[in-house]
Amino acid sequence: MQLQDILFSQGFGTRRVCAGLIQLGHVTVAGAPCTDPGAEFPTEGLRFTVQGVDWPFADKAYLLLHKPAGTECSQKPSAWPSIYTLLPGPLRQRPTKSSIQGVQAVGRLDQDTTGLLLMSDDGSFIHRMSSPKHHVPKVYEVRTKHPVDAEQVRRLLEGVVLDDDPKPVAAAACEATGELELRLTLTEGKYHQVKRMIAAVGNRVEGLHRSRIGGLVLPADLAAGRWRWLGVEDLAALREPSP
Ligand code: URA
Repeated sequence: MQLQDILFSQGFGTRRVCAGLIQLGHVTVAGAPCTDPGAEFPTEGLRFTVQGVDWPFADKAYLLLHKPAGTECSQKPSAWPSIYTLLPGPLRQRPTKSSIQGVQAVGRLDQDTTGLLLMSDDGSFIHRMSSPKHHVPKVYEVRTKHPVDAEQVRRLLEGVVLDDDPKPVAAAACEATGELELRLTLTEGKYHQVKRMIAAVGNRVEGLHRSRIGGLVLPADLAAGRWRWLGVEDLAALREPSP
């Protein structure tokens, strides 16, 4: 693929902008400067730098973000900074077939929820990970206002009715992990689902953190607000059920 097309496909701007970056000497490929926008490179395993920043070629981008509290998952947030401001520019403007829209969050977490959020520009991946039909388990660590008791855990596992939906929703797994803490696994993602389920059993969420999706655990060394690429092993782990 031509170098200007490589940069374009990775979100570095229009082809004209990409050609300019290359001609001005801002791009290196496999460690060597390249000033020819038409130079051809195989994209498999390709790494290049733009203005000194290392960049791996990725046909589709798959990342995980450790969402911090006080951020909104919307591109057009109403009150808090958007999670998209935590990503570098090229990831926010990767071209798809029909538009320039960059990576999208796989589902949403509330403003005050922290933890594991997947992001991608692969529409079928986003659908597979977020559709309730695929039953991908998502694990939440919940801090509660009142002590957790066995009756609450039993009701969460059995199923509770949420205000607008006559069909009860049940946790796939639920265990108390402390006096004011429980771990809840859900395979759907209804609006404010954890908070509403906890309220339905007479308790209240004081803190919410998503620690795992499928077999993929939020890395302990990834600080809140930081992101990283998903590797082949991470993508395989997402297909596994949680233990
Ligand atoms: N359930 C909630 O109530 N909030 C979230 O952010 C995620 C799941």
